[in-house]
Amino acid sequence: MLTEAPRAPAGQGRKTATRVLVEHHEVLRALIRHLRETPRSQPGRRRALTGELFDELWMHERIEEGIFYPALRDVTPALAAAWSEHRQLSDQLAALVRADPRTGRFDRELDVLHDVLESHAHLDEERQMFPEIERFADEELLAELGDRLQARLGRLRSSRRVRAVLRLQRALLRRTARPGRPAA
Ligand SMILES: [Fe+2]
Ligand SMILES: [Fe+2]
Repeated sequence: MLTEAPRAPAGQGRKTATRVLVEHHEVLRALIRHLRETPRSQPGRRRALTGELFDELWMHERIEEGIFYPALRDVTPALAAAWSEHRQLSDQLAALVRADPRTGRFDRELDVLHDVLESHAHLDEERQMFPEIERFADEELLAELGDRLQARLGRLRSSRRVRAVLRLQRALLRRTARPGRPAA
């Protein structure tokens, strides 16, 4: 396990937990945007971006469920629904991975994923849960959680074992996919 960097006091260039998560939401949004801009005629590029989105969303859920949600369980009641919304997101992500990137079905699954992500990340987290947490949680706690979220995300991203497991998960999902017909 890597050693975490020494911590400056809260407010001295450190990111709060909510800032770290909002920035990671932006990473997810950018990937969806790139996917939407990539035409069906580039299935390889679509597949690569879908893989990146799969990994980043998986990591996002891990750091929220492993660090953020448990630490703030008593601060906001909005957390209760968040877990089931993550399951919904994972299911929709699986549907996207299974879809043939040359088909209209892929576009439809991507649209649904976009809507499910915005409903959770924007409406439930950024508009409701995060402001509530920022109002009631201690500033030092939020900075400390921000450090931990960034450190965990960095470790997950650089872990060859995690990358291998995620690659395997994607391959298994694709294997259970029904063959799609390329759109005209
Ligand atoms: Fe979440
Ligand atoms: Fe989130």
